[in-house]
Order: sequence, then C-alpha cells, then structure tokens
Amino acid sequence: MNANGTQFTFSAATKGPPDSDALLVPLPATPQPPMELVTRVDRLCDDAVSELLDVDALRDTVGHIAQTTCRGQCRRIVLISLGEEEKLRAHEVRRAAAAAARWLIGERVKSATLWLDGLAVSGVDNASAEWASGMALAGHRFDEFKQPDERTPAKIRVQLRASSSAHVTRAMPLVREALLLSDAVNYTRQLSHQPANVLTPTSFAAEAKRLAGPGGIKCTVHNAAKLKQMKMGGLLAVGCGSVHAPCLVQLNYRGAPKARTTTVLVGKAVTFDTGGYSIKPSAGLEEMKFDKCGGVTVLGAIKAAAALKLKCNLVGLIPVAENSVSDRAYRPGDILRMMSGKTVEVTNTDAEGRLILADALWYAQTKLKPTALIDLATLTGGVGVALGTAAAGIMSNDDNLAADLGEAGRRAHERLWRLPLWDDYRELIKSTEADIKNSAGKRAAHAIVGGMFLREFVKDDIPWAHLDIASVATLDTSNGITGKGATGFGVRLLVELLRLRGA
Ligand code: BES
Ligand code: ZN
Ligand code: ZN
Repeated sequence: MNANGTQFTFSAATKGPPDSDALLVPLPATPQPPMELVTRVDRLCDDAVSELLDVDALRDTVGHIAQTTCRGQCRRIVLISLGEEEKLRAHEVRRAAAAAARWLIGERVKSATLWLDGLAVSGVDNASAEWASGMALAGHRFDEFKQPDERTPAKIRVQLRASSSAHVTRAMPLVREALLLSDAVNYTRQLSHQPANVLTPTSFAAEAKRLAGPGGIKCTVHNAAKLKQMKMGGLLAVGCGSVHAPCLVQLNYRGAPKARTTTVLVGKAVTFDTGGYSIKPSAGLEEMKFDKCGGVTVLGAIKAAAALKLKCNLVGLIPVAENSVSDRAYRPGDILRMMSGKTVEVTNTDAEGRLILADALWYAQTKLKPTALIDLATLTGGVGVALGTAAAGIMSNDDNLAADLGEAGRRAHERLWRLPLWDDYRELIKSTEADIKNSAGKRAAHAIVGGMFLREFVKDDIPWAHLDIASVATLDTSNGITGKGATGFGVRLLVELLRLRGA
C-alpha cells in the first residue's frame, strides 16, 4: 500500500530535554488545569504554557489551538483544547488530536513531543491511544494519483512524554494497538476512494488476495462461471452490463479455531453505480464510485481482526459488480431467479445493491453456518433523509445482535439507529408478476424497504443485521476526524462488536 498523506509514528521520548520541533500540550479548558500540572510542563518550555493560559488562550472548543514560541529546545509550544472536562469523551480526544495533526502538517513540522499529563487527567480511558488514533486518521489523505507535494511531510515523529515514565511505558502498547486499527480504517478509506476505472470487480478480487497474502487470512474468489453454477441470478444480473465480470469474494479468518461461533460479514461492493437503465442524474454521479464502501469496510474489518489477532472466527463475503448501462445490461421489468429460488421483478435497476446482497446472504446461510450475519451497504439515499450523517441505520431480526451492535457503535462512536421491519411494510415489495419486486416505486420508507427486501433472503432463526451506511460512509465536511471523503465507517464498530463478544 502506498503511503497516503502523512504518517504519524509514535515512540517513547528519551531522557533529557525534548528535542523536537514542537511541544504538544493537550489540556481540558474548563475547569482550569491544576497549577501543579502546568508547572510540570512549564519546566520544559520556559513557562510558555502558563503564559498562554494567563491570557485565556485556551478556549472551550475541542481542538482549538493556541500557540507560542519559546527559546527552549522545542521552539513551538502548542496548546490543544480538550474542551470541558465533564463532557469529554473518547471521540473528542480523537478530534482534538486530528486538529493537532492538521496543524502540524500545515506548519510542516517534522517532529513533536506529546505531553501526556493533560490526557491523563481527562478522565477518558486510554486517552493516549485515542489521541494516536486521531492523529493517524487525520494524517491520511487520498493523494496517490497526485504529483508528490514536497511541502507535505511524509512522516511526523511523535515522542510521548509524561512526568512519570511509567505512564509512557503503559501507554505504548495501547498506542500500538490503536495504530493497527487506524491502519485498517485508512486502508478502507484508501480503497473507498479508488476510481472505478482502477478498482474494477477483477482488481477488487486481486486486492482481496493481496490482503490475504501475508497469512492468517484465506481468500477464495468465486468467478462468474461459479456464480452461474450456484444460480446467483441477482449478482449475475447486476453485473452483466459491464465488461468487468462480477464475482463473489470470500475471506476466512480463524482466530478462534476451537470456538463454534462464526460471524459472517457481507459487504456491498458496486464498483460504480450508474443506476443502470433506471439511470441516475449526472450531478454528483462521480460519488457513485463510493458504492463499494460496504465491501471495502469488510476488507478493513478482516485486516484489523488479523492484525490485532482477535480471538474470533470471521468470514467476509463480498459480492462485487459494476452496475452499468449497455446492450447487455439488465432491464426494468426483467424477472430474476435468485440463488434462494425466489423470483424478483426488477422495477428499478438502481435498486441493485439488495439484489447482489440477497444472493450473498443466501450463500452465507447455506454454506457457512453463521452464528451472526451482518451486512453493510451503501443501500439507500433514504437512510440519510431519516438520520442525516449522525448515525447509520440498522435493521435486524434479532434483538440481541441489534443491542450488541448498538453498544459497539456507541463505544466506537460509529452510532447506529434502529429502524423497524414490521410486516406492515411487506406490501411495498409485493409484485404481481414475481414473488417480490426490488423497489416500491414510491418514496415512503426507502431504507426500510431495502431491509424488508433483504429479510426475504434471511432465515428467521439466523441472527442477522443490515447496516445501511449510505449517509456515513463519506462526509463532505473537512472538520471532524477523517475530514472530507471516505470515513471507513464500520471498521472500528465491527472490531468493538467482536471485542464485546469476547474476541
Ligand atoms: N447506491 C445507491 C444508494 C446511495 C445513494 C448511496 C446516495 C450513496 C449516496 C443505491 O444503489 C440506490 O440507488 N438506491 C436507490 C434505491 C431506490 C431505487 C429504491 C435510492 O436510494 O434512491
Ligand atoms: Zn443504485
Ligand atoms: Zn448502489
């Protein structure tokens, strides 16, 4: 994988005065930091910190930066606000770190000393690791297709320092773990951004094989001939309009060989969604390269599980297709026979995600004996109408799984909000010519209709959850932790879920 943006490396500071370009001092703004804490950091910088505090430079806004220079070894002193201590949560520590990371990059600073005492009093567990994660996520940028920009530092070295060196020793392993996880998130983000002329179904499969290469993960690619043999009418129909044939990518990670649980993660990977004959409007169409975000999130989650050596068994299952317009493409009105045997009337070729997921879900249940089945998909614009960008939609047939995912989402700050799958909605997918249709043809309950359709392909006794991530997989604001573009939403959430369930 190419280095994208700026990489932050972390190590314990060596003894002696700090020898880096900047001293980073994260501090809660309210209440005022205790005097003795300030005195300790003042010693490293000729009282610069208390001088900044004296002029009220530290604001309540998380990530607000106040800076000055001093004559010591670290020329630049940077205070970063952690806001109000009472309200401080892990994700705000990451946000403050992201702000600091962007500042360092903008100022072309190459090395920094991070003073941990302020994080230690923040009341957030493992705040140093959260900080490292915020920096790693903010440093990532999708720039592999641009001429190298000499002014952007490729690497920034961060040395951890605290008044007690035991604190640094305790923090380092957690920081390393956080970086492995952030790496997997950045991997997902980088794949999300790949344009559709580069990441085709074929090269997607090659990437999955590359990921499996180093060990611990097994990769199988079911090609179009195999899909025909398995009668995957949904995946084949969606993919048949493109010169890039569809495939089903399967990744197996066995981190708990003796356990009898298997979590199957299914991810929608439409490498480009034109809408097909039910063609999309041209404004913003380039965003439809992000229609593979569910699939690359599954790749990232498996990469993370393997890197963190999680004690769980995972299967990643990714139906990959390009939804194109051509003389070979499927049409509105077509009736498909799915792998499960059910028939589907295609009322909208733009509701393609549910067709490829339906076959993957059926495959999962008939071949993989899942104890939990979770799909992630940029399935509907409607989920954003319902929830905006603050949460992804979750629909599930199992209260336990929904509750665990909800809790994992709170911990990861990748929140989920449950939408109902009541039988009342069933009539929206009734068809006169086939068993069901793939689109209701009206705007009501768009996200739920997607979930209702998928439920038709899930057996009642298999705990299943559908995560509609269409409105959270990418963001168009440049603040926040990951900035504008792909967020990698779901990777941290899934790792939290697996940990919550004992991995
Ligand atoms: N890939 C889109 C959903 C989408 C929309 C993702 C906007 C990200 C941003 C999906 O395949 C789609 O087109 N869904 C339709 C469903 C409809 C035809 C039933 C939608 O949301 O309008
Ligand atoms: Zn579509
Ligand atoms: Zn789509």
